[in-house]
Amino acid sequence: MNRSKRLLRAGVLAGLLLAGAAARAAEPPLPDRDPHSYANPAQLRVTQVALDLSVDFKRKRLSGTSELQIAHVDPAARELLLDTRDLSIERVETSSDGKTWSKAAFQLAARDRVLGSKLSIAVPADAQRVRIRYTTAPQASALQWLTPAQTAGKRQPYLFTQSQAIHARSWIPLQDTPLVRMPYSARIRAPKNLRAVMSAEMHEQPAADGAWEFVMPQPIPSYLIALAVGDIAFRSTGERTGVYAEPSLLDRAAYEFAETEKTMELEEQLYGPYRWGRYDLLILPPSFPYGGMENPRLTFATPTVITGDRKLVSLVTHELSHSWSGNLVTNATWSDFWLNEGFTTYLTNRLNEAQYGLEFADMERVLGLQDLRDSEEQAEPADRVLVRATPAADPDEVFSSIPYERGALFLTWLESLYGRPAFDRFLRGWFDEHAFKSASTAQFLAYLDEHLIAQDRSKASAAQIDAWLHAPQIPAFAVLPRSDAFTQVESQRAAWLGGALATSALPTSGWAVQQWQHFLDTMPASVTPAQLQALDAQYGLSKTPNAIIASSWFRAAIAGGDQAVWPAAAQYLQHVGRMRLLGPIYRAWIATPDGRVYAQQTYAQARAGYHPIAAASVQRLFDERP
Ligand code: BES
Ligand code: ZN
Repeated sequence: MNRSKRLLRAGVLAGLLLAGAAARAAEPPLPDRDPHSYANPAQLRVTQVALDLSVDFKRKRLSGTSELQIAHVDPAARELLLDTRDLSIERVETSSDGKTWSKAAFQLAARDRVLGSKLSIAVPADAQRVRIRYTTAPQASALQWLTPAQTAGKRQPYLFTQSQAIHARSWIPLQDTPLVRMPYSARIRAPKNLRAVMSAEMHEQPAADGAWEFVMPQPIPSYLIALAVGDIAFRSTGERTGVYAEPSLLDRAAYEFAETEKTMELEEQLYGPYRWGRYDLLILPPSFPYGGMENPRLTFATPTVITGDRKLVSLVTHELSHSWSGNLVTNATWSDFWLNEGFTTYLTNRLNEAQYGLEFADMERVLGLQDLRDSEEQAEPADRVLVRATPAADPDEVFSSIPYERGALFLTWLESLYGRPAFDRFLRGWFDEHAFKSASTAQFLAYLDEHLIAQDRSKASAAQIDAWLHAPQIPAFAVLPRSDAFTQVESQRAAWLGGALATSALPTSGWAVQQWQHFLDTMPASVTPAQLQALDAQYGLSKTPNAIIASSWFRAAIAGGDQAVWPAAAQYLQHVGRMRLLGPIYRAWIATPDGRVYAQQTYAQARAGYHPIAAASVQRLFDERP
């Protein structure tokens, strides 16, 4: 390149940068504080975390140090505020050079039920680093310590973390807010024969001293820091993909998720490069409380999606999609949760269409709509909106399908108004311009206005957009999905319920998992226990190895008054800890007086095997209004 060309290019670049700066300037600033964190990042901000932890299965605790690098955003600030929950803090030191350390004064405040305990640390003006020596509690809300009996192999214990939304503070003292992003590194000492994995770059073998070493070079929010320790093996499934699982599960897992690389490529065509290097899956034991968790580079997933027919892998598509919506562009606070989950649900639908066709994608969309309607019915009025007027007390308590499904419908509506090509460009621009940043709803609205609505202001009104965000139901002008495959199931079901079709004549052999779900989840109240028992006798539903169909079946049978399924349902609840699958069963029982008692007995037995987050969610069902 000659000199004038180079200058020209520099000029164009500077112009682009200026334009970028101008576009960003139009967006409102992020808030200084997060209502779900004690941190004060506008004064002192954590810029990097280095963990050095030992895993003690006997005492169910992690202990070691967390070393934080800090930036003095406000040079006058002398107090670093961190989040903790049930941690014992043994010592705090600060350093200006990372070599010499001096003891720092600190104070651990009384424990708040939701937020935990604020840790205040006195930091000198020149302190660059803070090192905290601490130990976690056996009941740490992010940690589940599994006995060998709760694993597939039955010989080794297992530990995993679940930090989202505000549980990282129960195993790491840090600024536990998605407003703050930081790279992290870790050294984890685990018992011999066990392997540690994290949401970071990994090595095949531990270091010479036995510690497993990890580096996450990109800045991520605290809720994406994740660790698992157990009898874990690895198998590659593609250029950038692979599965980690207990050895006995590895073959099935590798088969089920063999198409992940393909999904990545399709997603990159739509939304830009995958920016995290590898994308691996960790298949957890069945007590994992979620379907999946988008820990960067290493999605944590329930084993309940392994069915042998790859029919439930859109869960992976969802978690992979978070590599754009959520991990790359992160909700600034938990009030903006729909920016993570609504976008991700929309992206997943698009990917489902591209990879498995419109019929499949529409079935998933309609199941989502049903979830949304159920959530709207169950939620308190204040929680029925996409963005609440005031922050929820506890993000776990208001978790529902509303941010997922109404958020996705909002984006689908925008797509329908401006057309797919324009909307795809718009989304891609949103991700590119906010990559590795946290973003608020207010910022999204400003970006939306400038980059999409401004193309034609007659298409979407401010009142309509306000309805999407703040109305307690789906706006009347929404574009709703339909599924012919489900309509067929509905008429077959009506014929069966009315006696025109024998139980054995239901054409179930051609049904997709999603059709079974729809058949069971929307079963009319008119179904009789005798009909349900005939269904079970014909199709062995109480014994199905498909955990999704099982959950839908048990809920439908309990709600329909078929007490014969109770023992099988109780059995199921002893080993499945995925909240989405167990919640509806407990809920159906609790709705009847006899069922409530039975549910309580079942829970008393199952509880020890649940993750603390799942146990709390079931407990809330019993505590709710009768
Ligand atoms: N990030 C969520 C799980 C989550 C949300 C954990 C809030 C803690 C707090 C994850 O991406 C998710 O949405 N999982 C779903 C998957 C489904 C929608 C395909 C789940 O677990 O059911
Ligand atoms: Zn999600």
